[in-house]
Amino acid sequence: MTDKINELLRRVEAFRPKAAAEVEEFRIRILGKKGELNALMEEFKTVAPELKRELGQQLNRLKNTALERINTLREELQDAAADQASEAGDLTRPGSAAPIGSRHPISLMKNRIVEVFSRLGYTVADGPEIEDDWHVFSALNFPPEHPARDMQDTFFIEKNPDILLRTHTSSIQVRMMERQKPPIRVICPGRVFRNEAISYRAHCIFHQIEGLYIDEGVSFADLKQSLLYFAKEIFGEQTAIRMRPSYFPFTEPSAEVDVSCNLCGGKGCAVCKGTGWLEIMGCGMVDPNVLSANGIDPQKYSGFAFGMGIERVAMLKYGVNDLRLYFENDIRFLHQFDTAF
Ligand code: DAH
Repeated sequence: MTDKINELLRRVEAFRPKAAAEVEEFRIRILGKKGELNALMEEFKTVAPELKRELGQQLNRLKNTALERINTLREELQDAAADQASEAGDLTRPGSAAPIGSRHPISLMKNRIVEVFSRLGYTVADGPEIEDDWHVFSALNFPPEHPARDMQDTFFIEKNPDILLRTHTSSIQVRMMERQKPPIRVICPGRVFRNEAISYRAHCIFHQIEGLYIDEGVSFADLKQSLLYFAKEIFGEQTAIRMRPSYFPFTEPSAEVDVSCNLCGGKGCAVCKGTGWLEIMGCGMVDPNVLSANGIDPQKYSGFAFGMGIERVAMLKYGVNDLRLYFENDIRFLHQFDTAF
């Protein structure tokens, strides 16, 4: 009986009809009431009980294969017939929707941040990704051989210690001060590069946004108010900020800014590690040394600067816990942000 089943299976698989009518004929011959499969079913009733299990499975497989093959062939031939019916196809048929892409969440967040600061009168500035030591370190008051240079692990180009990939967007501050006399009020988004092992919280390429405001009489209070406005716009009206003393070579005084955790409302949760606060950026008053190094009179002008990682802001806002997701381009991840902003 196994031979008979196999022989029929082979015929089902080899069946190559040219028209839908042939498929129907074939279906009746094989699966119809008086068809070959039912004949085998009759025969099955008479086989020895110890063979039933094995033969039953074989018969089932045959039946499923035949059903599937017949359905597929029928659809294929019907589609082909429909295509032939009219050269232009059916003009009344609804078009098939072409899936459209979506903006990357990092672009969306960057645009959002730029938009918030543009309302405060900031314009967007840009600078090169391949930089020299002056714009990334020296003009920003990183003394030579000072350990502050080790704060960021740098990629050098062709072992030339003067040419490097910028490690922060603060280099654009320097380019702006070269280009323009105060008042300067700019926001500078861009890619930055650091020689770091890739993990859920670090990457060798990421994005920052730098802000710089220089004018007569700019104070720390202005800085605080601008950042509070920013935090409320991004994380919601109820958001609070706090500033903790910190150190950066290019600002004095310097601060680290935290926003109240928008996930738990400041009560303490896993994301804010129970503190109710999330660290979001560095900032400070532009160090007078930086102003002088860039030809701006520190007696007359003062300013503030701030810098943040765009990935970090987007992670905190959307509860994304692995930085690498932003670089893997998995469509299932990216599409979740279509309507998020
Ligand atoms: N450049 C700093 C970094 O990459 C971030 C930063 C801190 C920028 C303080 C600033 C600032 O403008 O004032 O970690």
